[in-house]
Amino acid sequence: MMMDGLDGLQTLERIHEADPALPVVMLSVSGKASTIVEAMRLGAADYLTKPFEEDELEATLRNVLERRALLEERDRLVNELGGSSGGAIWASPAMQRVRSLLEQVADTDVTVLIHGESGVGKEVAARTLHGVSTRVRRNFVKVNCAALPTDLLESELFGYEKGAFTGATHRKQGKFELAHRGTIFLDEIGEMSPVLQAKLLAVLQDSAFARLGGNEEIKVDVRVVCATNRHLDEMVKEGSFREDLYFRLNVVNVALPPLRERREEIAQLVDRFATRFSARYDRPRPDFGERLMRSFERYPFPGNVRELENMIKRIIVLENEDIIIDEIARYGQGERGESRLREVIDEIAANAGDLPLREVGRRAALEAEREAIDRVLHHTNWNRKQAAKLLGVSYKTLLHKIRDCGLEPG
Ligand SMILES: Nc1ncnc2c1ncn2[C@@H]1O[C@H](COP(=O)(O)OP(=O)(O)OP(=O)(O)O)[C@@H](O)[C@H]1O
Ligand SMILES: [Mg+2]
Repeated sequence: MMMDGLDGLQTLERIHEADPALPVVMLSVSGKASTIVEAMRLGAADYLTKPFEEDELEATLRNVLERRALLEERDRLVNELGGSSGGAIWASPAMQRVRSLLEQVADTDVTVLIHGESGVGKEVAARTLHGVSTRVRRNFVKVNCAALPTDLLESELFGYEKGAFTGATHRKQGKFELAHRGTIFLDEIGEMSPVLQAKLLAVLQDSAFARLGGNEEIKVDVRVVCATNRHLDEMVKEGSFREDLYFRLNVVNVALPPLRERREEIAQLVDRFATRFSARYDRPRPDFGERLMRSFERYPFPGNVRELENMIKRIIVLENEDIIIDEIARYGQGERGESRLREVIDEIAANAGDLPLREVGRRAALEAEREAIDRVLHHTNWNRKQAAKLLGVSYKTLLHKIRDCGLEPG
């Protein structure tokens, strides 16, 4: 628990600020009971004292991950069952229209394409569609088309026979088979490669396919729901998405509006998340101050409902809303200089695996530096001497950086 400049407990608090749900296992050399107690009080998932056996580490990590999986599963079930702390909110007229559209098409088995920005509730809509259809007793199977390279995604979707490729030591069922008489949810469909787009189209036309390395034709009865935050129609024009597949998928189109266009839902969502997370983290249910609700009123929520959800989660875990209020205020100031950091992070996420980690770090650092300099300059009204002092660099260094980052008084 000793690190340069920051001790283990402070590090733990920082991590929790960034992601309250991330389980943290503490390693301690001292094994002092008071430190361990304090770490657990601050929300550490578990701890180990050095020296420890490899088995011990493995068992601890496995335990922690299993516990988290259970919590997530419970959340998901509560959500699906629509219990007192679950169930989606459909309060605005726009979302009520979405909800009735979903009910209307639930039992028609036509393909549904859900479109909307990140975090607006595309998965919630897909699960609702399944939930109000007669397929509800069968599986809802989710496949993230962006998470796997083409070959793996293909075997994930359609399964394989023993010996289909090196490493295929046994037959494996694909997600389409698992979704028989239920619903398959193809998330991030816009990221699917052209090869698989062609295969998927064939499967949709025939309602049949073969496992990889097999000849047996498998017939399935599956409701297909797709989601994307990309504009597929534009991708069709550019030639990166097959037009025939697009028409096949886009029989019914469900467009989810961003949260900033249905602000009337914010209060109810806040209420719902507060109930859920205060129960989950065993914290008192806060009375949110007017200051917080007012800062929500003008905030554009680029991360939509998920962002609001994470904010409430953090407020409850940290029992403090000032951090969020400050963040929102800072976002407002950054808007002028246009916060590119988020875009850079999204870009990095989209290219995960293609960029060496060092490059990822370099780009994110550059962008963070650019943003910091821009804000400080804005704050000092472009007084560069004062800005250099605030940033703790020499005047000359700052001038170089301003030039390198292409910053201008605006
Ligand atoms: N109408 C709603 N009522 C309650 N909770 C919601 C609602 N919409 C979204 N959420 C919550 O917000 C979070 C994000 O929703 P969801 O995962 O469905 O979004 P998404 O559009 O699929 O996001 P992404 O594009 O990032 O995959 C989830 O935790 C979900 O439970
Ligand atoms: Mg999603």
